[in-house]
Amino acid sequence: MLFKEIKNNVFYTGLNDADRVIFDELIPLEHGTTYNSYLIKGSKKVAIIDTMYPPFSDLYIKNFETNGIENVDYIIANHGEQDHSGSIPMLLEKFPNAIVITNEKCKGNLKEMLLIPDEKIQTIQNDEELSLGDKTLKFILAPGVHWPDTMFTYLKEDNMLFTCDFLGAHLPFEDLYSKNDDLLYSMAKRYYAEIMMPFRLMCKKYLTMIDEIKPDYILPSHGPIYKEPKFILDAYKDWTNDKPKNLVLIPYVSMYGSTEEMVQYVKNGLEKAGISVYTHDIVRDDLGDLAVELVDAATIIVGASMVLAGPHPMAINACILANALKPKAKFASVIGSYGWGGKLVETIASLFTSIKPEFITPVVIKGKLKKEGYDELDALVNTIIEKHKAINLM
Ligand code: FEO
Repeated sequence: MLFKEIKNNVFYTGLNDADRVIFDELIPLEHGTTYNSYLIKGSKKVAIIDTMYPPFSDLYIKNFETNGIENVDYIIANHGEQDHSGSIPMLLEKFPNAIVITNEKCKGNLKEMLLIPDEKIQTIQNDEELSLGDKTLKFILAPGVHWPDTMFTYLKEDNMLFTCDFLGAHLPFEDLYSKNDDLLYSMAKRYYAEIMMPFRLMCKKYLTMIDEIKPDYILPSHGPIYKEPKFILDAYKDWTNDKPKNLVLIPYVSMYGSTEEMVQYVKNGLEKAGISVYTHDIVRDDLGDLAVELVDAATIIVGASMVLAGPHPMAINACILANALKPKAKFASVIGSYGWGGKLVETIASLFTSIKPEFITPVVIKGKLKKEGYDELDALVNTIIEKHKAINLM
């Protein structure tokens, strides 16, 4: 647990959790994560912004004792999810005079999830300010990036913006601050893909707002602090752009190699034409990598064997996840092989309810590829080339 001054009586009081391997029981973590909590000492009042993941509550509370924090007036909850709010009950025990400051939606969540009593919570409206004496906190409601209860807190005098999960990364750090290197870029992109991409349009809205604020520091609730926010803001502007890149993503599962042969044939044809292709073995590869490629892909081709008259269950799983992440892909198709038949295309198409891509004629064959199959795959490749040209990707 760290206790380190960022500047002017603003302290980092969070934790590097490099050992955590999965988040939300869904997202593999390559390097672990951090839970960022901040303490601000004003001339009259002390505030904490976001708290700690409950397994570390004891350490978190002890950290305040060790560093001589004897009084806290306000606990700002930017968001109700327990990795940030989970230590509020213990904080209230430790600092019984403290009041939780949050918005109405988050208040409901804190009451339901953490059983925090009504009288301990004071709600604020959008743009409302709270004085700590020589420091002023301004609250900016930001529903949709990513929960309905999300808000940012802006420390006016120090031009610091606390964005909660927005603009974060699952990446521990050595000295609090972002190095703005390739590792951070890839971890921030992965985080965006897995957590923020479903809210891409809302992200765009708040990027514009942050551009107007021009904060000197962006302080998210996971990963390093940005002293040069341009790095992450520029990256988000690219990822949230409406236009996809000249990229075809092919998640596939192949039981006896026929579907995989189709995948390779399509990949070769597209690459010869100058289109980037990312193939993803749904069974063996990291699901997070699939999410990352969904950020930019213009076309998704699902490759699947058939099992018990439908797509292989692992293909269904990947399609459900892809659809939930709401990528900007414009086109989709299905390729696959069967032994005794079933509804491969219909089932996969029915899962893309959020993406709503234009479906390109699928190619489904019995057993191994033969001349007609190769011809159909050539037609699929040619159609994708035409479609990418039509939207100026090549
Ligand atoms: Fe990091 Fe939505 O919690």
